[in-house]
Amino acid sequence: MPEARKVGIIGVGKYLPQHVLTNYDLEKMVDTTNEWIITRTGIKERRIAAENEAASDMAVKAARNALESAKLKPEDIDLIIVATITPDMFFPSTACQLQFKLGITNIPAFDISVACSGFVYGLVLAEQFIKSGMYRNALVVAAEKLSSVTDWQDRSTCVLFGDGAGAAVLAQVNKGGILNSTLGADGSKGDLLQLPAGGSKMPASIRTVENRLHTIKMEGNILFRHAVKIMADAARKVTEPLGLKGDDIDIIIPHQANLRILDALALRMGVDPKKKVYLNIEKYGNMSAASSAVALCEAVEEGRIKKGDKILMDAFGGGLTWGALVIEW
Ligand code: ACO
Repeated sequence: MPEARKVGIIGVGKYLPQHVLTNYDLEKMVDTTNEWIITRTGIKERRIAAENEAASDMAVKAARNALESAKLKPEDIDLIIVATITPDMFFPSTACQLQFKLGITNIPAFDISVACSGFVYGLVLAEQFIKSGMYRNALVVAAEKLSSVTDWQDRSTCVLFGDGAGAAVLAQVNKGGILNSTLGADGSKGDLLQLPAGGSKMPASIRTVENRLHTIKMEGNILFRHAVKIMADAARKVTEPLGLKGDDIDIIIPHQANLRILDALALRMGVDPKKKVYLNIEKYGNMSAASSAVALCEAVEEGRIKKGDKILMDAFGGGLTWGALVIEW
């Protein structure tokens, strides 16, 4: 039997809006303190997109950055997947907007709505299309403008989120690539993290606006416990069949929701969080799907990822959804 195609990441990119919103800025907006935010979450500051900057505007910058790193031109791409819960609009999709902004036509382009797990889902989807031989070079972008769905009067959520975009180009590789992956969801716990209004269940009305139902509602405390367990289980599910222990992983690139979640995950995996877990939550907060995409890009840029390294990506988010994969760089 012919050996299955190996699929790897051949380029990464990112874009972060210029405007920095610090914890001290938030102290002036809601009843919170820099100290509370740092000790409870690990976040010091986050980026906020400009008013006229939509998800696709950030996506196109991250995508161009990834294409440059992959040494490809937009016309070399034959599949676009965008992970976002803050699309430019319901339709056309942000992926179609991105395709247009990249100046290419005809190739398939679609969004996936998987909240914070979106980038890992996107990578696994792209891997399947390339493995099957249907497409050659896939562009996966995670772009989020969470500031547009944040309730800036709710201190329990507004201190957590930020805006940004990350991207990866996937293609067939000779060695390494994605070694194993897992995806999952539990719709029964969807109400723990949601944006209630604006969809067909609760269309926009004066009442939904007055009741602030177009912003993220979150049961942070309950989610926290689910996140630790689910991320640890997903990590085990992808590493064990490969015979990998925590120490065999060179670096963990997790979704960056909360520093304490990541410390707890490292503890469960029996690894030193300071050595093994890549963090950028301090600078950017939780950018939903874009968090792990930007983290991967920065880990590469900083030389934290070298050829042959084994990387664990592990994400968890609203839905509930989760996804993890091991990739040999
Ligand atoms: N400043 C000061 N006090 C605050 C703030 C704030 N910004 N926010 C909440 N508090 C208060 C609360 O009112 C509460 O006060 P009380 O005890 O008088 O009632 C107290 O702090 C403790 O609140 P908790 O919610 O229990 O705080 P916790 O330690 O759980 O931290 C947090 C909250 C940071 C949200 C945490 O629960 C968390 O990170 N959860 C996980 C979030 C997550 O994983 N989300 C999924 C991914 S996101 C996505 O998919 C888009």
